Amino acid sequence: MKNTDIPRIKEWFEKYSANFFTSDEKFNANIRLKIEHSYRVLERMDEIADSLGLKGRKRRIARACALLHDCGRFEQLKRHETFADFRSENHGELGAWVIEQENVLSLLSASARGIITTAVRYHNAKAIPEELTAEERFFTELTRDADKIDIFKVIGDYYLDENPDKDKTLVHNLNESPEITDEVFAEFMNDGHVTFQNMKTVSDFKIFQLGWVWDINNQEALKILDELGYVETIISTLPDSPRGREAVSKYRQFISRFEKERHLGWTEISREKLYDCRIFSLYSSQRRSSENTEATAYMIDAPDWVTVVPRIEKDGEEYFVMVRQYRHGSMKITTEFPAGTLEPDEEPEEAALRELEEETGYRAGRITWLGSVNPNPAFLTNTFTAYLAEGLIPTGKQNLDEHEYVDYELIPVDDAIKRMGSGEYSNGTMLMALMYYMRGR
Ligand SMILES: [Fe+2]
Repeated sequence: MKNTDIPRIKEWFEKYSANFFTSDEKFNANIRLKIEHSYRVLERMDEIADSLGLKGRKRRIARACALLHDCGRFEQLKRHETFADFRSENHGELGAWVIEQENVLSLLSASARGIITTAVRYHNAKAIPEELTAEERFFTELTRDADKIDIFKVIGDYYLDENPDKDKTLVHNLNESPEITDEVFAEFMNDGHVTFQNMKTVSDFKIFQLGWVWDINNQEALKILDELGYVETIISTLPDSPRGREAVSKYRQFISRFEKERHLGWTEISREKLYDCRIFSLYSSQRRSSENTEATAYMIDAPDWVTVVPRIEKDGEEYFVMVRQYRHGSMKITTEFPAGTLEPDEEPEEAALRELEEETGYRAGRITWLGSVNPNPAFLTNTFTAYLAEGLIPTGKQNLDEHEYVDYELIPVDDAIKRMGSGEYSNGTMLMALMYYMRGR
């Protein structure tokens, strides 16, 4: 994803949503509600992304997910005059459809497009499907968190609005009775999850919403939600009944689990770039602990890294295509899988295919994501991603950078496994790639 993609997506969103305005002011108010919600979710996403240190491509994907997550809402309201999925259709699915129909992401790489569409599709699903890749899951979880934080605000504002003629679409025109009904209460007290269809009253809806806190994935998002005080607003409008009080105490008990870990966290006060070179930047960051003490942390901001495990079969035996090169850090010649850093705006998958071909001359017919990890989160900010490359076709031609001297050879898979992590096989990140490879076998 490129720098210019987000302004372009924003422009599309603005024009697209404005198309839904009609002469009906009540309808327009609901359109406006979702437009404003989308922009606020983008703000919340930026806050979560800041606290997670997301930059570059990841930051841009996260922002696109936030802005587009509810783009199915406009069509939903136009077609069915309701925001209730169970009375109309699933607005996450509808959003994924809109993105495709409108070609919103056509200029993006297949991988970025897939992640964003997946996050939009499942931002409102009861549970995130198992089969998503780790990257898809990561961004889907972020989107769900940013979205939930703002829905707490929207619905809290609604409860605080004392206008008797306020539009009840938001709470699905549920019965105004203060009662928390049997099924909803039992479900909530069990594990926090309430089935949408079981709700009968507005108080049920408040309990249903309180249950969303169980669904928040990132600790940082939970912290932001807590600081904004939105949950307390909902709680303050709950009926002062035995069930209402029991539900609140269940919530407080749940939240206290996170409180217990609060003392571990640090917040950033300021950050300064100390040094910048071709392969990394060095930062110092002033941070405050939970006990209000201050300390300086130093970080190396290095580009994200990909490693390719290229597997080939020859005469009934399995080999890895591996490379030999001099490493300036250890001042030794090592045997490694082909690997390298991402170019600006490059997708990890593209980088994997490029590095493989540059270093070995092999073109991959198939590339499979194996796993992503932080190589050393103590002071490195980057991500390492491993891929399996198969269906290899030799072009017989390496394409090395200036000052790059690399030989390649076929190493029997079992030999490489036996030797990895010792002697010439001393690059630690190769162990990470091999671990993912073996787990996937
Ligand atoms: Fe939504």
